[in-house]
Amino acid sequence: MRVPNVGDMTSFTAPGLSTEAATEVTAILQERLSALNDLHLTLKHVHWNVVGPNFIGVHEMIDPQVELARGYADTLAERIATLGGSPKGTANAIESDRSWADYSIGRDTVQAHLAALDLVYDGFVKSHRDGIARTGELDPITEDILIGQTAELEKFQWFVRAHLENSTGQLVNAGADSEKAAADSAR
Ligand SMILES: [Fe+2]
Repeated sequence: MRVPNVGDMTSFTAPGLSTEAATEVTAILQERLSALNDLHLTLKHVHWNVVGPNFIGVHEMIDPQVELARGYADTLAERIATLGGSPKGTANAIESDRSWADYSIGRDTVQAHLAALDLVYDGFVKSHRDGIARTGELDPITEDILIGQTAELEKFQWFVRAHLENSTGQLVNAGADSEKAAADSAR
């Protein structure tokens, strides 16, 4: 996980946490904050662009996850502030913090979007798990927040995958290494 440089730390942090640990945790949280802001925007984009059979079910399945991701972004931003950092929530922050490309699918079928979204969640969940591992050594309170978020995000990925799975447990997008390849495999 790329860790952005976070300046503007206050002269105090949470009791019992060293300034060095707070600075490192804050940097990890800023990258995850930008990832969550990118995720809820991407989810709305999918909500607006799905077409075809099963439109309404998936269109409506996505909105609660948008609200969840927005709430999680708020939690991480406020954790950054609690630790003495200055959370960055602008479009430019997303752009400079992220190490992945913009979501690449426009108007497309439900199955194509869900296959691509599965890859989005692969990357997101893996990075949140990396965040758990790294913050676990520095600040178990932040680790606990990330653990709770990851559990719910993994559950939503199961919702996504359930649309892509056959009766023998195979995913239609298995092995796809890009969003476009995943969408092609599912269309
Ligand atoms: Fe809507």
